[in-house]
Amino acid sequence: MNQAVDPGDTVIDATVGNGHDTVYLAKLVGPSGHVYGFDIQATAIENTRQALAAEQLSQQTTLTQAGHETIAQVLPAEAAVKCAVFNLGYLPGGDKTVVTTAPTTLTAVEAVEQRLTPNGLVLLMVYTGHPGGQDEADALWEHVQQLNQHEFQVLQYSFVNQIHQPPYLLAIQKRARHQQPTN
Ligand SMILES: C[S@@+](CC[C@H](N)C(=O)[O-])C[C@H]1O[C@@H](n2cnc3c(N)ncnc32)[C@H](O)[C@@H]1O
Repeated sequence: MNQAVDPGDTVIDATVGNGHDTVYLAKLVGPSGHVYGFDIQATAIENTRQALAAEQLSQQTTLTQAGHETIAQVLPAEAAVKCAVFNLGYLPGGDKTVVTTAPTTLTAVEAVEQRLTPNGLVLLMVYTGHPGGQDEADALWEHVQQLNQHEFQVLQYSFVNQIHQPPYLLAIQKRARHQQPTN
C-alpha cells in the first residue's frame, strides 16, 4: 500500500473492521487526501471512528455504515480512486456469520475499477476457509480472468507451503495508457 498511495490521494477501505487499514491509509494520504471507509457493522464503524480520532486522522476520512456495494453512491462522481483495499471474510474476534459475499463484493470491485486512476490498485485479501468464502473467491476469479489485459493487470500472491486454506492476495492494477501487456 505504501508504494501505491501518495499524499493527496483518494482511497477506499472497503471493509474497515477495527480500522487498522483505515488508520494506515489515512496516514498515507495525509490531510490533503481522503479515505472513504465502509462497513455494515455499527461496532466496526465506531471502533474505526475512535481509532482515527485517537491519531487525529478524522478530518481526512469519511466512514459510512453501509455495504461497499454503495461505493458508487457515496463517493463524489468526480472522485478518482488511487487504491481500494478489501479485507474480505469476517472480522476476527467478531461475529463470524457476518461475512462479505460474492454479489456485493463484485458490485463494489466493478465500481472501483471504473474510478481507478492510471496505475491505481485494488487489493483484495481473499479467504476461502469459512462458509461462503470459496464461492466469493470463485466469483472474483471469474471476474478478474475476463478483465481486458490492455486495461488491467491482475496478480495473485499466495502461500505455497502453508497447510489448511491460507488467504491470498489479489491485486488489480489499472494500466497507464503507455503500458502494453508483455505477451
Ligand atoms: C476481515 S474484516 C476487516 C478487517 C479490517 N480491515 C481491520 O483492519 O480490522 C471484514 C469486514 O467486512 C465487513 N463486511 C461484511 N460485508 C460487508 C459489505 N458488504 N460492505 C462492507 N463491509 C462488509 C464485516 O463487517 C467485517 O468487519
